[in-house]
Amino acid sequence: MQNSKLTVIEHPIIARDLSILRNATTKTAEFRQALGRIATILAYSALKDLPLKEKEIQTPITTTSGYDIDTEIIVVPILRAGLSLTGAIINFVPDAKVGHLGMYRDETTHEPVDYYSNLPDNLGSSLVLLVDPMLATGGSADDAIGFLKKQGAKHIRFISLISAPEGLERIQKKYPDVSIITAAVDEKLNDDAFIVPGLGDAGDRYFGTD
Ligand code: PRP
Repeated sequence: MQNSKLTVIEHPIIARDLSILRNATTKTAEFRQALGRIATILAYSALKDLPLKEKEIQTPITTTSGYDIDTEIIVVPILRAGLSLTGAIINFVPDAKVGHLGMYRDETTHEPVDYYSNLPDNLGSSLVLLVDPMLATGGSADDAIGFLKKQGAKHIRFISLISAPEGLERIQKKYPDVSIITAAVDEKLNDDAFIVPGLGDAGDRYFGTD
């Protein structure tokens, strides 16, 4: 499923691995492996229209044309859980810079609480890939995108594993220029603002702190 700014990636490996992630009995090791595989597919999809710059290369036989990626890339994980998606992007773009935004969601108000930020300088001229596996109310992504824009970011893509319709609507309405790439759009949020059916707390399950 795809519209101009929302891409929901469909792939049999994602369907199988999401089932592993959603299963409450899945242990940390299997959870990490399944999330890592989906992260690779998400990264591949998020990078598939990168601009290229042609250059001449010398093979052992002759000269031919080759390519470099023609943009700087900055990956920005929303801590903690965003770290689970970061490695997959760096595998494809080893020279990408990584900025960090630390925020957790207050359990009572469900509002994001900022506790850390460390961003590279050249946000304005780079493609910024903001990553967080869960888009629930959208409060964290809203806060993070607002902050990145204030710091000069102009080209932002948001990559998530599971999105709730509520969070998607909030981000699409407030930031129509931001592309969203996700592996699933779930049903709704519950009264505790958890995604239903979801997978619980991605950060806790990925880091084994649940
Ligand atoms: C979770 C998740 C997102 C946020 C989503 O983080 O990883 O950052 O909540 O909710 P929202 O869309 O309603 O803002 P959490 O607070 O569990 O922190 P963690 O990453 O440290 O586990």
